[in-house]
Amino acid sequence: MSEQLNRFMDEQLPLLHTHFTELFKGKSYPEVLNEAMSYSVHAGGKRIRPLLVLAVLKDLQSTSQDAVQVAGAIELIHTYSLIHDDLPCMDDDDFRRGNPTNHVVFGEATAVLAADALQTLAFEELASLQHTDPTTILAILRAVSTASGAAGMVGGQILDMQGEGKQLTLTELEEIHVHKTGALLACCVESGALLANVSESVMQSLRIFSSNIGLAFQIKDDILDVTASTEQLGKTANKDTASAKSTYPALLGLEGAQAKLENHHKLALDALEEIGLGSSLLSQIADYIINRNA
Ligand code: IPE
Ligand code: IPE
Ligand code: MG
Ligand code: MG
Ligand code: MG
Repeated sequence: MSEQLNRFMDEQLPLLHTHFTELFKGKSYPEVLNEAMSYSVHAGGKRIRPLLVLAVLKDLQSTSQDAVQVAGAIELIHTYSLIHDDLPCMDDDDFRRGNPTNHVVFGEATAVLAADALQTLAFEELASLQHTDPTTILAILRAVSTASGAAGMVGGQILDMQGEGKQLTLTELEEIHVHKTGALLACCVESGALLANVSESVMQSLRIFSSNIGLAFQIKDDILDVTASTEQLGKTANKDTASAKSTYPALLGLEGAQAKLENHHKLALDALEEIGLGSSLLSQIADYIINRNA
Protein backbone atom coordinates (compact mmCIF):
# COMPACT_ATOMS: atom_id res chain seq x y z
CA MET A 1 0.00 0.00 0.00
CA SER A 2 1.27 3.50 -0.81
CA GLU A 3 2.51 5.67 2.00
CA GLN A 4 -0.06 8.35 1.21
CA LEU A 5 -2.95 5.89 1.42
CA ASN A 6 -1.52 4.46 4.61
CA ARG A 7 -1.41 7.91 6.16
CA PHE A 8 -4.94 8.64 4.98
CA MET A 9 -6.17 5.44 6.63
CA ASP A 10 -4.33 6.22 9.86
CA GLU A 11 -6.00 9.60 9.94
CA GLN A 12 -9.54 8.59 8.88
CA LEU A 13 -10.19 5.13 10.32
CA PRO A 14 -10.00 6.21 13.99
CA LEU A 15 -12.74 8.76 13.22
CA LEU A 16 -14.87 6.00 11.72
CA HIS A 17 -14.27 3.72 14.68
CA THR A 18 -15.13 6.42 17.20
CA HIS A 19 -18.31 7.04 15.21
CA PHE A 20 -19.19 3.33 15.44
CA THR A 21 -18.55 3.28 19.19
CA GLU A 22 -20.89 6.25 19.65
CA LEU A 23 -23.50 4.56 17.50
CA PHE A 24 -23.97 1.68 19.92
CA LYS A 25 -23.48 3.59 23.18
CA GLY A 26 -26.39 4.31 25.48
CA LYS A 27 -28.95 2.89 23.05
CA SER A 28 -32.20 1.36 24.25
CA TYR A 29 -31.77 -1.62 21.91
CA PRO A 30 -32.24 -5.03 23.54
CA GLU A 31 -28.85 -5.89 24.98
CA VAL A 32 -28.10 -9.01 22.96
CA LEU A 33 -29.07 -7.24 19.74
CA ASN A 34 -26.78 -4.32 20.51
CA GLU A 35 -23.99 -6.77 21.32
CA ALA A 36 -24.47 -8.80 18.13
CA MET A 37 -24.65 -5.68 15.95
CA SER A 38 -21.56 -4.10 17.40
CA TYR A 39 -19.67 -7.45 17.41
CA SER A 40 -19.60 -7.62 13.62
CA VAL A 41 -19.14 -3.89 13.06
CA HIS A 42 -16.16 -3.75 15.42
CA ALA A 43 -14.65 -7.01 14.15
CA GLY A 44 -12.62 -4.97 11.68
CA GLY A 45 -12.25 -5.66 8.02
CA LYS A 46 -10.46 -3.60 5.43
CA ARG A 47 -12.98 -0.73 5.52
CA ILE A 48 -12.60 -0.25 1.78
CA ARG A 49 -16.12 1.09 1.34
CA PRO A 50 -15.90 3.90 3.89
CA LEU A 51 -12.40 4.72 2.63
CA LEU A 52 -13.77 5.15 -0.88
CA VAL A 53 -16.38 7.64 0.32
CA LEU A 54 -13.77 9.62 2.22
CA ALA A 55 -11.12 9.41 -0.51
CA VAL A 56 -13.41 10.78 -3.22
CA LEU A 57 -14.06 13.86 -1.12
CA LYS A 58 -10.37 14.35 -0.41
CA ASP A 59 -9.38 13.85 -4.06
CA LEU A 60 -12.00 16.36 -5.17
CA GLN A 61 -10.68 18.80 -2.56
CA SER A 62 -14.03 18.89 -0.89
CA THR A 63 -15.12 18.31 2.70
CA SER A 64 -18.36 17.41 4.41
CA GLN A 65 -19.12 17.23 8.11
CA ASP A 66 -21.37 14.28 7.25
CA ALA A 67 -18.72 12.28 5.40
CA VAL A 68 -17.94 9.83 8.23
CA GLN A 69 -21.64 9.24 8.87
CA VAL A 70 -22.27 8.43 5.19
CA ALA A 71 -19.14 6.26 5.02
CA GLY A 72 -20.19 4.48 8.22
CA ALA A 73 -23.74 3.86 6.99
CA ILE A 74 -22.49 2.03 3.90
CA GLU A 75 -20.13 -0.06 6.06
CA LEU A 76 -23.14 -1.02 8.21
CA ILE A 77 -24.91 -2.28 5.09
CA HIS A 78 -21.80 -4.17 4.01
CA THR A 79 -21.51 -5.72 7.48
CA TYR A 80 -25.15 -6.82 7.43
CA SER A 81 -24.55 -8.41 4.02
CA LEU A 82 -21.60 -10.38 5.41
CA ILE A 83 -23.60 -11.65 8.41
CA HIS A 84 -26.29 -12.96 6.05
CA ASP A 85 -23.72 -14.25 3.53
CA ASP A 86 -22.14 -16.40 6.27
CA LEU A 87 -25.41 -18.01 7.47
CA PRO A 88 -25.79 -21.78 7.11
CA CYS A 89 -28.55 -21.21 4.52
CA MET A 90 -26.11 -19.20 2.38
CA ASP A 91 -22.32 -19.74 2.36
CA ASP A 92 -22.25 -21.46 5.76
CA ASP A 93 -19.04 -19.89 7.05
CA ASP A 94 -17.75 -20.09 10.62
CA PHE A 95 -14.99 -17.54 10.39
CA ARG A 96 -15.11 -13.88 9.38
CA ARG A 97 -12.77 -10.95 9.92
CA GLY A 98 -10.57 -13.20 12.00
CA ASN A 99 -13.37 -14.11 14.39
CA PRO A 100 -16.17 -16.67 14.66
CA THR A 101 -19.12 -15.58 12.52
CA ASN A 102 -22.06 -13.76 14.06
CA HIS A 103 -24.41 -16.79 14.00
CA VAL A 104 -21.71 -18.99 15.56
CA VAL A 105 -21.47 -16.62 18.52
CA PHE A 106 -25.08 -15.44 18.89
CA GLY A 107 -27.16 -18.10 17.10
CA GLU A 108 -28.91 -17.85 13.77
CA ALA A 109 -32.04 -15.97 14.83
CA THR A 110 -30.06 -13.23 16.55
CA ALA A 111 -27.62 -13.01 13.62
CA VAL A 112 -30.48 -12.55 11.14
CA LEU A 113 -32.04 -9.87 13.32
CA ALA A 114 -28.75 -8.09 14.06
CA ALA A 115 -28.10 -7.86 10.33
CA ASP A 116 -31.65 -6.61 9.69
CA ALA A 117 -31.17 -3.97 12.36
CA LEU A 118 -27.78 -2.89 10.91
CA GLN A 119 -29.45 -2.36 7.58
CA THR A 120 -32.23 -0.18 8.94
CA LEU A 121 -29.75 1.67 11.17
CA ALA A 122 -27.80 2.56 8.03
CA PHE A 123 -30.83 4.22 6.49
CA GLU A 124 -31.71 5.94 9.77
CA GLU A 125 -28.18 7.34 9.77
CA LEU A 126 -28.44 8.58 6.18
CA ALA A 127 -31.85 10.14 6.81
CA SER A 128 -30.41 11.96 9.84
CA LEU A 129 -27.53 13.82 8.20
CA GLN A 130 -27.32 17.27 9.76
CA HIS A 131 -25.01 19.15 7.41
CA THR A 132 -26.22 18.09 3.97
CA ASP A 133 -29.01 19.63 1.91
CA PRO A 134 -32.20 17.53 1.60
CA THR A 135 -31.83 17.06 -2.17
CA THR A 136 -28.39 15.53 -1.73
CA ILE A 137 -29.59 13.38 1.17
CA LEU A 138 -32.38 12.03 -1.04
CA ALA A 139 -29.93 11.33 -3.87
CA ILE A 140 -27.63 9.44 -1.48
CA LEU A 141 -30.57 7.49 -0.03
CA ARG A 142 -31.66 6.54 -3.54
CA ALA A 143 -28.16 5.50 -4.59
CA VAL A 144 -27.52 3.43 -1.46
CA SER A 145 -30.92 1.72 -1.46
CA THR A 146 -30.71 0.85 -5.16
CA ALA A 147 -27.16 -0.48 -4.79
CA SER A 148 -27.97 -2.63 -1.78
CA GLY A 149 -31.39 -4.00 -2.76
CA ALA A 150 -32.88 -6.29 -5.39
CA ALA A 151 -31.31 -4.31 -8.24
CA GLY A 152 -27.92 -4.46 -6.52
CA MET A 153 -26.29 -6.52 -3.76
CA VAL A 154 -29.29 -8.61 -2.73
CA GLY A 155 -30.06 -9.33 -6.38
CA GLY A 156 -26.47 -10.42 -6.91
CA GLN A 157 -26.53 -12.63 -3.84
CA ILE A 158 -29.51 -14.58 -5.11
CA LEU A 159 -27.89 -15.03 -8.53
CA ASP A 160 -24.77 -16.25 -6.71
CA MET A 161 -26.81 -18.82 -4.77
CA GLN A 162 -28.65 -19.96 -7.91
CA GLY A 163 -25.31 -20.31 -9.71
CA GLU A 164 -23.92 -22.86 -7.23
CA GLY A 165 -23.01 -26.10 -8.93
CA LYS A 166 -23.63 -24.67 -12.41
CA GLN A 167 -21.25 -23.86 -15.23
CA LEU A 168 -22.07 -20.23 -16.00
CA THR A 169 -21.00 -18.15 -18.97
CA LEU A 170 -18.65 -15.24 -18.46
CA THR A 171 -21.55 -12.85 -19.03
CA GLU A 172 -23.64 -14.56 -16.34
CA LEU A 173 -20.74 -14.53 -13.90
CA GLU A 174 -20.09 -10.86 -14.55
CA GLU A 175 -23.78 -10.16 -13.89
CA ILE A 176 -23.43 -11.79 -10.45
CA HIS A 177 -20.25 -9.94 -9.51
CA VAL A 178 -21.42 -6.56 -10.75
CA HIS A 179 -24.51 -6.85 -8.57
CA LYS A 180 -23.35 -8.65 -5.42
CA THR A 181 -20.17 -6.61 -4.93
CA GLY A 182 -19.74 -3.96 -7.62
CA ALA A 183 -22.95 -2.07 -6.90
CA LEU A 184 -22.21 -1.26 -3.25
CA LEU A 185 -18.60 -0.29 -3.98
CA ALA A 186 -19.77 1.96 -6.81
CA CYS A 187 -22.31 3.64 -4.57
CA CYS A 188 -19.52 4.58 -2.13
CA VAL A 189 -17.84 6.59 -4.86
CA GLU A 190 -21.17 8.02 -5.96
CA SER A 191 -22.17 9.02 -2.42
CA GLY A 192 -18.84 10.78 -1.82
CA ALA A 193 -19.19 12.52 -5.17
CA LEU A 194 -22.75 13.60 -4.31
CA LEU A 195 -21.50 15.10 -1.04
CA ALA A 196 -18.83 16.92 -3.07
CA ASN A 197 -21.46 18.19 -5.51
CA VAL A 198 -19.55 17.14 -8.62
CA SER A 199 -20.54 17.94 -12.19
CA GLU A 200 -22.26 15.27 -14.30
CA SER A 201 -19.16 14.80 -16.45
CA VAL A 202 -16.90 14.11 -13.45
CA MET A 203 -19.60 11.78 -12.09
CA GLN A 204 -19.57 9.88 -15.40
CA SER A 205 -15.82 9.24 -15.20
CA LEU A 206 -16.15 8.26 -11.54
CA ARG A 207 -18.88 5.78 -12.51
CA ILE A 208 -16.55 4.15 -15.04
CA PHE A 209 -13.82 4.06 -12.40
CA SER A 210 -16.06 2.53 -9.77
CA SER A 211 -17.71 -0.08 -11.95
CA ASN A 212 -14.25 -1.33 -12.87
CA ILE A 213 -12.88 -1.42 -9.34
CA GLY A 214 -16.13 -3.01 -8.16
CA LEU A 215 -15.69 -5.92 -10.51
CA ALA A 216 -11.94 -6.07 -9.87
CA PHE A 217 -12.60 -6.31 -6.14
CA GLN A 218 -14.70 -9.46 -6.48
CA ILE A 219 -12.33 -11.03 -9.04
CA LYS A 220 -9.52 -10.51 -6.53
CA ASP A 221 -11.71 -11.96 -3.75
CA ASP A 222 -12.25 -15.07 -5.91
CA ILE A 223 -8.51 -15.34 -6.65
CA LEU A 224 -7.59 -14.97 -2.97
CA ASP A 225 -10.10 -17.68 -2.05
CA VAL A 226 -7.86 -20.04 -4.03
CA THR A 227 -4.40 -18.60 -3.37
CA ALA A 228 -4.45 -17.28 0.21
CA SER A 229 -4.66 -19.02 3.57
CA THR A 230 -7.50 -18.87 6.09
CA GLU A 231 -5.18 -17.13 8.52
CA GLN A 232 -4.27 -14.48 5.98
CA LEU A 233 -7.87 -13.87 4.93
CA GLY A 234 -9.53 -14.02 8.35
CA LYS A 235 -12.20 -16.13 6.61
CA THR A 236 -12.16 -19.73 5.42
CA ALA A 237 -10.02 -20.20 2.31
CA ASN A 238 -10.96 -22.52 -0.57
CA LYS A 239 -14.59 -22.07 0.27
CA ASP A 240 -15.74 -21.35 -3.28
CA THR A 241 -14.49 -24.66 -4.64
CA ALA A 242 -16.05 -26.50 -1.71
CA SER A 243 -19.42 -24.84 -2.42
CA ALA A 244 -19.06 -25.24 -6.21
CA LYS A 245 -19.39 -21.47 -6.68
CA SER A 246 -18.99 -19.92 -10.05
CA THR A 247 -15.88 -17.77 -9.83
CA TYR A 248 -13.41 -16.18 -12.22
CA PRO A 249 -10.60 -18.63 -11.43
CA ALA A 250 -13.02 -21.55 -11.87
CA LEU A 251 -14.11 -20.25 -15.26
CA LEU A 252 -10.92 -18.70 -16.65
CA GLY A 253 -8.19 -20.32 -14.58
CA LEU A 254 -5.96 -18.28 -12.28
CA GLU A 255 -4.04 -16.66 -15.13
CA GLY A 256 -7.19 -15.74 -16.99
CA ALA A 257 -8.71 -14.28 -13.83
CA GLN A 258 -5.53 -12.31 -13.16
CA ALA A 259 -5.55 -10.90 -16.72
CA LYS A 260 -9.19 -9.84 -16.31
CA LEU A 261 -8.32 -8.22 -12.99
CA GLU A 262 -5.50 -6.22 -14.56
CA ASN A 263 -7.69 -5.16 -17.43
CA HIS A 264 -10.33 -3.71 -15.07
CA HIS A 265 -7.58 -2.03 -13.05
CA LYS A 266 -6.31 -0.31 -16.18
CA LEU A 267 -9.79 0.82 -17.24
CA ALA A 268 -10.36 2.23 -13.75
CA LEU A 269 -7.09 4.19 -13.84
CA ASP A 270 -7.82 5.48 -17.37
CA ALA A 271 -11.12 6.90 -16.14
CA LEU A 272 -9.34 8.71 -13.31
CA GLU A 273 -6.72 10.12 -15.71
CA GLU A 274 -9.52 11.73 -17.70
CA ILE A 275 -10.50 13.88 -14.74
CA GLY A 276 -6.98 14.65 -13.59
CA LEU A 277 -6.98 12.11 -10.75
CA GLY A 278 -4.23 9.92 -12.18
CA SER A 279 -2.23 9.91 -8.97
CA SER A 280 -5.00 10.32 -6.44
CA LEU A 281 -6.04 8.41 -3.34
CA LEU A 282 -8.65 6.70 -5.53
CA SER A 283 -5.92 5.45 -7.87
CA GLN A 284 -4.00 4.15 -4.86
CA ILE A 285 -7.10 2.37 -3.60
CA ALA A 286 -7.44 0.78 -7.05
CA ASP A 287 -3.81 -0.39 -6.81
CA TYR A 288 -4.45 -1.74 -3.34
CA ILE A 289 -7.55 -3.63 -4.50
CA ILE A 290 -5.61 -5.57 -7.10
CA ASN A 291 -2.42 -6.07 -5.09
CA ARG A 292 -3.91 -6.88 -1.68
CA ASN A 293 -3.14 -10.18 0.04
CA ALA A 294 -6.27 -10.35 2.16
C1 IPE B 1 -16.01 -9.38 1.44
O1 IPE B 1 -15.80 -8.01 1.43
C2 IPE B 1 -17.22 -9.68 0.63
C3 IPE B 1 -17.11 -9.25 -0.75
C4 IPE B 1 -17.92 -8.41 -1.26
C5 IPE B 1 -16.07 -9.81 -1.60
P1 IPE B 1 -14.46 -7.40 2.02
O2 IPE B 1 -13.30 -8.15 1.47
O3 IPE B 1 -14.47 -5.93 1.82
O4 IPE B 1 -14.62 -7.74 3.56
P2 IPE B 1 -14.08 -6.95 4.83
O5 IPE B 1 -14.98 -5.78 5.00
O6 IPE B 1 -12.66 -6.55 4.55
O7 IPE B 1 -14.20 -7.93 5.95
C1 IPE C 1 -20.18 -11.95 -0.86
O1 IPE C 1 -19.36 -12.59 -1.75
C2 IPE C 1 -20.68 -10.68 -1.35
C3 IPE C 1 -21.62 -10.08 -0.40
C4 IPE C 1 -22.58 -9.35 -0.82
C5 IPE C 1 -21.51 -10.28 1.05
P1 IPE C 1 -18.54 -13.80 -1.15
O2 IPE C 1 -19.44 -14.83 -0.60
O3 IPE C 1 -17.52 -14.20 -2.14
O4 IPE C 1 -17.80 -13.05 0.07
P2 IPE C 1 -16.84 -13.79 1.09
O5 IPE C 1 -15.77 -14.46 0.26
O6 IPE C 1 -17.68 -14.75 1.87
O7 IPE C 1 -16.29 -12.66 1.90
MG1 MG D 1 -21.37 -15.46 -0.89
MG1 MG E 1 -19.26 -15.85 1.32
MG1 MG F 1 -15.52 -14.79 -1.66
